[in-house]
Amino acid sequence: MKWLVLVHVLGATIWVGGHLILSLGFLPHALRTKDINIITNFEKNYERIGIPALLIQIITGFWMASLYIPFNQWWSLASPHHHYLWIKIGLLLGTLVLAVHARLMIIPRLTIEQLPSLAFHIVLATVLAVSFVIAGLSFRFIFF
Ligand code: HEM
Repeated sequence: MKWLVLVHVLGATIWVGGHLILSLGFLPHALRTKDINIITNFEKNYERIGIPALLIQIITGFWMASLYIPFNQWWSLASPHHHYLWIKIGLLLGTLVLAVHARLMIIPRLTIEQLPSLAFHIVLATVLAVSFVIAGLSFRFIFF
């Protein structure tokens, strides 16, 4: 289990750290200078590390969840752990919808006029990323 947590936390640093750097560093710079290349260059480089990191999160996350809650008990909200599991699944679905929408609908025909819309996506994806961490820590520390 501790190796799973280690890999999961390393993946989290890449996913959450990448989004925070994008939201707090590159995005304000791009909005200030109205330069969409700042975002597209970041995305191009980050994608190669970020997408495998997200896949690792999904594999290790579902694996650990199955150790907390046997699969045949997943369709229930009987304990706080069930709640966190379903919060994580909800966050994952939200993240996937945002990523697919941005990748297929916004990034391929990105213009300066669409930068605020992409900015909204980026900030929302970052909020979801940080929420993953809070929900993840709640498995041990019952945050909410
Ligand atoms: C980008 C996506 C994700 C991020 C950033 C993330 C982040 C984290 C973090 C920081 C922890 C705390 C580890 C600890 O307490 O030591 C954690 C725990 C956990 N996560 Fe995730 N997670 C993600 C996706 C998922 C998914 C998709 C699932 C499965 C539904 C999942 C299931 C779990 C479980 C079961 C734990 C508890 C492990 C433990 O503390 O024993 N995670 N997560």
